[in-house]
Amino acid sequence: MANSISTVLVAVMWALASPPSLCFAGKVGSGGGYLYPQFYDRSCPNALNIVRSVVAKAVAREPRMAASLLRLHFHDCFVKGCDASILLDSSGSIASEKRAIPNKNSIRGFEVIDEIKHALEKECPSSVSCADILALAARDSTVLAGGPSWEVPVGRRDSTGASISGANNNIPAPTNTFQTILTKFKLKGLDMVDLVALSGSHTIGNARCTVFRQRLYNQTGNGLPDATLEKSYANQLRMRCPRTGGDQNLFFLDQISPFAFDNSYFKNLLSNKGLLSSDQVLVTSNRQSAELVKKFAESNAAFFEQFGKSMVRMGNISPLTRSSGEIRKHCRKINSSN
Ligand code: HEM
Ligand SMILES: *[C@@H]1O[C@H](CO)[C@@H](O)[C@H](O)[C@H]1NC(C)=O
Repeated sequence: MANSISTVLVAVMWALASPPSLCFAGKVGSGGGYLYPQFYDRSCPNALNIVRSVVAKAVAREPRMAASLLRLHFHDCFVKGCDASILLDSSGSIASEKRAIPNKNSIRGFEVIDEIKHALEKECPSSVSCADILALAARDSTVLAGGPSWEVPVGRRDSTGASISGANNNIPAPTNTFQTILTKFKLKGLDMVDLVALSGSHTIGNARCTVFRQRLYNQTGNGLPDATLEKSYANQLRMRCPRTGGDQNLFFLDQISPFAFDNSYFKNLLSNKGLLSSDQVLVTSNRQSAELVKKFAESNAAFFEQFGKSMVRMGNISPLTRSSGEIRKHCRKINSSN
């Protein structure tokens, strides 16, 4: 109810307002003061449809792409804010985040972002930011995989730099403790509810042997597997994730329904079948977090509702707005290098 009233209000204000930046300050929570869903209604009315149709084509070609695009937005936002820094290739003064540890040999989807940007530049040149493309593609991917939808506040601008160290330090690692992961979320203005809900992204997509091998053989340095990992599942994983070799072998993060965006991720955690250590710690390390996992395992609707809210909160992390940054013409390079 409150939501639909504020949506109508925003629409009315939008109709009356000019310039738009004056009236939406503070409309969206925390970092997102100047972001709002109608940002492109005048400057590129077809923008959201174009993003959606290219994402739909890409996911039809390869279902995993939904997961890869969702992850791209996360790995963008956690470095210096949602500013498309992750999309920059190395050149001149820029050392690409693609080479950072959390991204190397695993982050993907850049060709799809290029295809979206190309279509948008044809429709309305220099109008739609690469950072907004990432936020919209993450939502569209979630919907295409069967997950919830939400309105995406837009109006972000693109960075003119990248940060490898930011990517290495700020993005949680799969071997981090619960406390470290929560701290990394809190540093970005997100809380425990966001952490648990957003981890539900691991209901789709893949992970490589190398990111969870330690759990299978030597979790705590005593030569034993992770005691919180279900035994038959561990046996199954060891078959294609040996002590040495097979580093890049792929495993479903959710083996029950690997391509469906649903709450089975949380059910897996309750039966000790989380793939990553960072997944399983959500139930083994903290009472409150374990309660949230139980809640989402019991109610798909509760998970979906919170996921949309938390994605908006993540998308609000330190955006560049107004005259900060730029609208890149090509997502892989800053405009001054064109
Ligand atoms: C909470 C801390 C998190 C950790 C430690 C973590 C870690 C990981 C790791 C290690 C992988 C596999 C990468 C590889 O094989 O190299 C992965 C995949 C993935 N992550 Fe996360 N992640 C976290 C949170 C998130 C969040 C917040 C999202 C989205 C909002 C997300 C979305 C995904 C998706 C969709 C995949 C599969 C990607 C694909 O198949 O291409 N993760 N994550
Ligand atoms: C397990 O790890 C510890 C510490 O990293 C190491 O000293 C030990 O040799 C390892 N054990 C096995 C069986 O790999």
